[in-house]
Order: sequence, then structure tokens, then C-alpha cells
Amino acid sequence: MQIKKAEFVMSNPDFRQCPESKTPEFAFIGRSNVGKSSLINALTNKKALAKTSGKPGKTRLINHFIINDRWYLVDLPGYGYAQIGKAEREKFEVMIHDYIKHRENLKGVFVLIDSRHEPQKNDTDFMEWLGQNEIPFVIVFTKSDKSRKAGELDRKINKYKSIMLETWEEMPECFITSSEHRKGLDDVLSFIETLI
Ligand code: GTP
Ligand code: MG
Repeated sequence: MQIKKAEFVMSNPDFRQCPESKTPEFAFIGRSNVGKSSLINALTNKKALAKTSGKPGKTRLINHFIINDRWYLVDLPGYGYAQIGKAEREKFEVMIHDYIKHRENLKGVFVLIDSRHEPQKNDTDFMEWLGQNEIPFVIVFTKSDKSRKAGELDRKINKYKSIMLETWEEMPECFITSSEHRKGLDDVLSFIETLI
């Protein structure tokens, strides 16, 4: 699938205020700074569609983008950013959880994980919460361009999977991406197409 048109629709603090829910939508979720907004920009080939930042905690609302006039991509705030304080962190968590539980047209949840890191508690807790709520999800390993040595990326991802398989019966579908090098983008788009 090719993205020919991508436009910002609106930002909301609450799933109840999100746009009409007749159109299939796909949401990017993950820790602050993992690259959610950057991936939306890379997929849509628009540098500044979603706001990105080198500092974590940039995206603070539920942001809808309409793609090809047909489906939504949704950028969410990150979880687990320590600096913002407990009250705000909890507010984001409620916002994200409520959105995922109640948004009827949500057809795909993409959990973004930094491909350099070992499993972190806030990611594994979040994926367990998805599992308990019977919400299917896929994993997108981001920033693959940052592993430069031969075999380093495979090693890290295999390690991630083997740790996850200590608690999960099977791995969800996984994608490996780099927004910087435009890697893995077609795979993500094809997957979305199959879900649509
Ligand atoms: P929050 O909105 O704070 O939750 O963060 P986010 O997950 O939306 O991250 P964002 O897209 O703003 O990116 C965070 C930082 O990572 C920025 O400095 C990006 O340039 C950088 N980044 C994102 N994707 C990649 C990638 O594929 N490769 C590299 N090298 N850097 C990336
Ligand atoms: Mg963001």
C-alpha cells in the first residue's frame, strides 16, 4: 500500500472526544522517545506531520491522522517517562488504557520497542495488560539503524524474544524498523492493509 495523502485531524485528551469511529484505525504505543511520532512521519513521508523531539514526553494527547481519506493512524503519548511526575504519568496511563479499551474501530495496536534495549518493566507490564484484556498487538522494534555492528541487531532482537518467551506462549508478529533509514516501513504498511 502507498500512502498518497496524510492529514492531521485533531488532538484529544480523551477517547470520547476522538473523531467519528467508523473508519479503521491503528495506534502506535510505547515508551516516551521510542520513536512513535517519527514512525508516523516516515510512513507518511511527511517530516513534520507528527511532532517529534529528542526529549521524551513530547506527545501529550491522542492525535488522529487521516490516511488516504480512508483510515486513521494514531499517535499517543509515551508511557514510563520518569521526569514528568507521578500524577501526570498516571494521567497518560489512564488516557492510553481507556482509549485502547473503548475505541471500537481500533484494528491494530503497535507496541514500539527500542531495538537496542532488553525488556523493560514498563513495556512488559503494558504488554501483559494487553494480554489480560485480550487485545491483540504486534511489536515494532525501532531505531534499528543504531545497531551498526554486524549481527548486533539480530542478537539484540533474539535476546528480547527469548526473554519474552519465558512468560509468553508465543511471540506476537514483529517488525524491525528504522525511521531514519526508512527500513521496514513497507512491511508495516502491508500489515495494516491486510487488517483493513
Ligand atoms: P514521545 O512523544 O515523547 O512519547 O516520543 P516518541 O515515541 O514519539 O519519539 P519521537 O518520534 O519524538 O522520537 C524521539 C527521538 O528519537 C527523536 O530524536 C527522533 O529523531 C529519534 N528517532 C526516532 N526514530 C528513530 C530512528 O529510526 N532512528 C534514529 N536514529 N533515531 C530515531
Ligand atoms: Mg511522540
